[in-house]
Amino acid sequence: MKRIGVLTGGGDAPGLNAVLRAVVRTAERVYGAEVIGILDGFKGLLDGRFRHVGGQDVRELIRMGGTVLGTTNRDNPFACPGENPGDTPIDRSAECLENARKAGFDALIIIGGDGTLRIASDLGRQGLNVIGVPKTIDNDLASTDYTFGFWTAIDTATEALDRLRDTAESHHRVMILEVMGRHAGWIALHAGIAGAADVILIPEIPYDPHSVAKTVVRCQERGRASSLLVVAEGAMPRGGEMAVVAVDAITGVKRLGGAGERLARELEALTRCDVRVTVLGHLQRGGSPVAFDRILATRFGEAAVHVAMAGRFNRMIRLADGCIEDVDLEEAVRKVKLVDPSGPGGALLKSARALGIAFGDE
Ligand code: F6P
Repeated sequence: MKRIGVLTGGGDAPGLNAVLRAVVRTAERVYGAEVIGILDGFKGLLDGRFRHVGGQDVRELIRMGGTVLGTTNRDNPFACPGENPGDTPIDRSAECLENARKAGFDALIIIGGDGTLRIASDLGRQGLNVIGVPKTIDNDLASTDYTFGFWTAIDTATEALDRLRDTAESHHRVMILEVMGRHAGWIALHAGIAGAADVILIPEIPYDPHSVAKTVVRCQERGRASSLLVVAEGAMPRGGEMAVVAVDAITGVKRLGGAGERLARELEALTRCDVRVTVLGHLQRGGSPVAFDRILATRFGEAAVHVAMAGRFNRMIRLADGCIEDVDLEEAVRKVKLVDPSGPGGALLKSARALGIAFGDE
């Protein structure tokens, strides 16, 4: 009997459990293969914490948010923390390979975003039989049209904007919604259009606070009771930097936050508006996946098993023009996808501008 390991890594995203369900069902029903879940991402692979996942275990999973396998976005087997803070990181990747060998994995399906999939690719180069499945609410992986989790995050952000519009209208206020997305403005751009925002600020288009203030004042002059602004956490004023809350001591990754508050202060200095800020934060990562994410996750999980069973390794599953395909993993994780006026997202930016949405750059 063939044995497939499954690992979820990085920040969670709605649809991870749906992938696991599809992997287990396809493996058992089509190939009579066994699935072993690795607990808590690469940490579990290093510690050898595994458990069998069968058909009964995944019955309810398609609609569940989070990941029943657990995850971590701090554990890179190639750079594990030493005994004391400040020690040189240790490469423990060989232990991952040894644990996978001992567990008898014929293939390892690794579900993650750019960071997790880069580690997967490096482990693949060392000899692990890996297949990558792309996930992230940020939708910033260049080689797939969409990652699952993204549309659920947009729905959450859109609902938040609808609610904010109600209270903003009542109080004649300027409401700022800060959304996630790291270096990419995809969530802000999509939610801003769906939620009929007046202004969308994204990292790819540094903004001029005066321009944003002008838009807000213009809204009021036209008799509008409120303004709705969506700000990506990575948005920055021209000549400024991203707003950073902290830098992770282990990974060195910057934790973003404060872009909304910064904009509020800028607007208060430039206008007489009453401004409030809502930070949507991790609400965007939890919850039941929307139908699109469930279907995409299911198709990814199924495809990953077929690729594993065909013995094709170091591949990543992706969505390209509606079709599910597999591509070279190392190549696939080389580039991130940002909103680009003359590339991906360009048409959407144009539509938003045509509808009168401002980006703080005019
Ligand atoms: O990559 C997904 C994401 O949710 C980003 O949008 C956000 O910047 C980051 O993860 C937050 O990470 P953490 O859960 O470590 O705070």
